This record gives sequence, structure tokens and C-alpha cells, in this order.
Amino acid sequence: MRDALGEVQSVLVLGGGSDIGRALCVRLAQGRCRTVILAGRPEDDMESVAAAVSAAGAETVELVHWESTDPASHATVIDEVFDRFGDIDLVYVPAGILGDQAAFESDPTFAAKAVEINFAGLVSSCLAVAARLKAQGHGAIVVMSSVAGVRARKDNFVYGSTKAGLDAFAQGLGDSLVGTGVRVMVVRPGFVHTKMTEGMDAAPFSTTPDKVAQVIVDGLAAGRETVWAPGILKFPFAGFRMLPRAVWRKVAERG
Ligand SMILES: NC(=O)c1ccc[n+]([C@@H]2O[C@H](COP(=O)([O-])OP(=O)(O)OC[C@H]3O[C@@H](n4cnc5c(N)ncnc54)[C@H](OP(=O)(O)O)[C@@H]3O)[C@@H](O)[C@H]2O)c1
Repeated sequence: MRDALGEVQSVLVLGGGSDIGRALCVRLAQGRCRTVILAGRPEDDMESVAAAVSAAGAETVELVHWESTDPASHATVIDEVFDRFGDIDLVYVPAGILGDQAAFESDPTFAAKAVEINFAGLVSSCLAVAARLKAQGHGAIVVMSSVAGVRARKDNFVYGSTKAGLDAFAQGLGDSLVGTGVRVMVVRPGFVHTKMTEGMDAAPFSTTPDKVAQVIVDGLAAGRETVWAPGILKFPFAGFRMLPRAVWRKVAERG
């Protein structure tokens, strides 16, 4: 249950080894968050995230097996977490892969796998989460979209389309939950320096996991439905959305 100051006291992370998730959980644990449940795959970097959030002040830190590509397991995993830990204030959803456009085009099954990880598996998981949050009567779901989903580019349109689908799903889910005490916040970052982007040339307005975590915390406190990271990105992308395709292709080529 969020405390009298409205601060998160418990969080479940779907994609527990995420670098942005680590920064968010550390920030929450430095505040009033005492319970952190990290859900992910065994190969995920969750142990080191668990150590960091414990050091930051979390009292209960648990690892749970959750695989995005296994939708049949999702309701059970989510139910077990809520049954075991009680009220969850925030469910943060950072799981995803960036992949590589050339690899997707040469192996369409890899492209389909990215859709499963980044979109389909998060749809089944978020629906299971929403049912439990509705039952408890409060809580927030924070979904990681991307500017890549706002306007598809030819050099990453498989990834971008997974984010476009997820973004639309999250907006619709949020609308369906109005009046239940549960809300959904969509996060649209640009380039963030994490293991996902390691070795890549930074895009304009690149940012850090700590700064994205601050945007999320501020957005939750302000009751926002959508946040951009950094916030300035909403202005160019409002324009990009409106450009004719031929003009957008030229803009996207210039990076
Ligand atoms: N970094 C950026 O520039 C950027 C920009 C815009 C949006 N985003 C989005 O923000 C979110 C977090 O990004 P990040 O930079 O923190 O990335 P990250 O550190 O690579 O975290 C992504 C997490 O997803 C997990 N994951 C991947 N496949 C999975 C599967 N099949 N089942 C369960 N978990 C799986 C990864 O686990 P493993 O370690 O086991 O693979 C990893 O813990 C992502 O959704 C990303 O698309 C990132």
C-alpha cells in the first residue's frame, strides 16, 4: 500500500535484470520502498540488482522465475507473487530485447521471437497484473515503450513495431482501468546508456538509467499517463509523427 506520502512501498519488476529497472528500484529503495520482487530468467542479471536494492534499503528482496515467451505461465507467476507478498504498489515492466534489424531480416523466426518477448508476453503478463491490481483496488503499471515505436524507421522497424504495439496496448489498458484505482504510465525513452545499447553510437538527447528512473518517479508522483525521457523528446516526435513518409525517410536517414 502506498504510504501516507503517496510513495511506493512495494514493487514487482518484470525483467528484473534491466539496467533502468536497477536504477529505478535503487531510487525507490532509497525512499520508502521496502519490498522488491525481481522477476526474470535465470540467466538474467538479477542477483546483482538484488544486492544493489538491498544495499539501498529494501528489506524484502526476492527473485522469481518469469519468462516473457511463456504466456501459459504468466497468470500463475503473477498470482503467486500477489498471494505471497500481498499488496504490490507498482509493477514495472522493462523486459525487452533490441535485437538487430539485419539479423531479424535474415532470420524471420528471430523477429517473431522479439515480438513474443517485447509485446505478446507483456500483454499476457500485464493483463494478469491488471486483474490483481484491480482486485486490490490500487496500484500502477509502468510500461517501457520507446521513441522507436512512435515513428518506425527502416533501420529498426521490427523493434519499433513491437514498441508501437506495446504502447498502444498500454494506453488502452490504462483507459480500461480508469475508475478502478489502478493506472498505467507509458514511458517513451530515447537512447539510454545501458547494456542494451552498449557499443552503439549515442543518439541525440541520450540519457542515463538514473535520469530515466527520476522521470518515472516524477511521472508517478504527478499522476502522468505518458512520460518521455528526456522530456524534451516529446516536441520533435510530435512533429515527426506528422511528417509525410517520404520526408520522414530523409529525416531518419540523417539520424
Ligand atoms: N536502453 C535504451 O536505449 C532504451 C530506449 C528506449 C526504450 N528502452 C526499453 O526500456 C526497457 C529496459 O531497457 P534497458 O536498457 O534497461 O535494457 P536491459 O538492461 O537490456 O534490460 C532488459 C531486460 O529484459 C530481460 N529479458 C529479455 N528477454 C527476456 C525474456 N524472454 N524473458 C524475460 N526477461 C527478458 C533481460 O534479461 P536478460 O539479461 O536475461 O536478457 C533484461 O533484464 C526495454 O523494454 C527497452 O526496450 C530502452
